Amino acid sequence: MDRHAPQEPRRGDGDGRAGRPLSQDAMIRAVGVRKSFGDVHALDGVDIEVERGRVLGLLGHNGAGKTTLVNILATVSPASAGTVTVAGFDVATQGAEIRARIGVTGQFASVDEYLSGFRNLVLIGRLLGAGRREAAARATELLELFELTGAAHQPSRTYSGGMRRRLDLAASLVGRPDVLFLDEPTTGLDPATRIALWETVEKLVAGGTTVLLTTQYLDEADRLADWITVLSKGRVVASDTTDRLKADLGHRSVRVVLPPAADLTAAAAALTAGGFRPRSDAGEHALTTPVDTSAGIAGVIRALDTVGTQAVELTVKEPSLDDVYLALTHPSPAADAA
Ligand SMILES: Nc1ncnc2c1ncn2[C@@H]1O[C@H](COP(=O)(O)OP(=O)(O)OP(=O)(O)O)[C@@H](O)[C@H]1O
Ligand SMILES: [Mg+2]
Repeated sequence: MDRHAPQEPRRGDGDGRAGRPLSQDAMIRAVGVRKSFGDVHALDGVDIEVERGRVLGLLGHNGAGKTTLVNILATVSPASAGTVTVAGFDVATQGAEIRARIGVTGQFASVDEYLSGFRNLVLIGRLLGAGRREAAARATELLELFELTGAAHQPSRTYSGGMRRRLDLAASLVGRPDVLFLDEPTTGLDPATRIALWETVEKLVAGGTTVLLTTQYLDEADRLADWITVLSKGRVVASDTTDRLKADLGHRSVRVVLPPAADLTAAAAALTAGGFRPRSDAGEHALTTPVDTSAGIAGVIRALDTVGTQAVELTVKEPSLDDVYLALTHPSPAADAA
């Protein structure tokens, strides 16, 4: 991923936890952000930071506070407490400066249903201060980028869900934002459209755009984000690089399918004796165990050998963000026994 190359190193600036010292080149920085709706503490002291040209993946269960945080960062609603800067400007006093430099694609599409895709984009361009011709040129360019040229002059209410999402993202890009907030940008998109959208985001990031992405899709965060912050009940429960989170909280595991005649219980006992923590899947006649190193994979094979069993199938699963997310959101996981 070449977007890692040109930036100053971000490792070494602390241990990556929420309390680390804040760097000098943050495009998004929130410190001690709180937001209450009556008795509901939607955000309860949140710190985040995103450096220029980076992608922060904001994960969390429904109601964790993701959209609330995005709304504060995008100057849609004020924080109850804390300080927030975006592109170096203070959300409390410099909202207009921030709005001129950001794009927001919300969980709920914001385009005007009665206008065509083209008209929507032109309108936004004009509102941002572009001349008629310039606004039309930018609209045409974006419609092409998002493969909406064929539908450019139809009212956007006739668009499919995926087309609307693409138009919504195009709308957020009219002003060539430095910072892009994507709140669940691919929810409800078909696989091909999701991948196309990911590629567009990657191109923007390669061009220096800073992105804050909320998503329920761990594969999306894994692909796009350099850094992951997990929110739970309005608090940050983890914040680190994707790779380090996986290394710390994920685990590599080996799954072996045994021949029908093999004794699953005896094989599981042999793995336990070999220092593994196998979990049986009787239906599939398989055993799964976490392994720490490559040597561990050979160890599994040797342990099975001690009871005269050979696997008919062996698969190694690398640590995934799914492991990480489950470990964080289910603190005493049965998954750990896997
Ligand atoms: N305008 C509001 N008035 C009252 N409560 C609100 C308001 N907006 C959000 N909340 C509450 O704040 C909490 C956080 O909501 P938020 O929408 O930020 O969650 P989220 O992480 O974006 O969830 P989702 O994954 O469902 O989009 C929830 O308990 C929600 O009910
Ligand atoms: Mg939300």
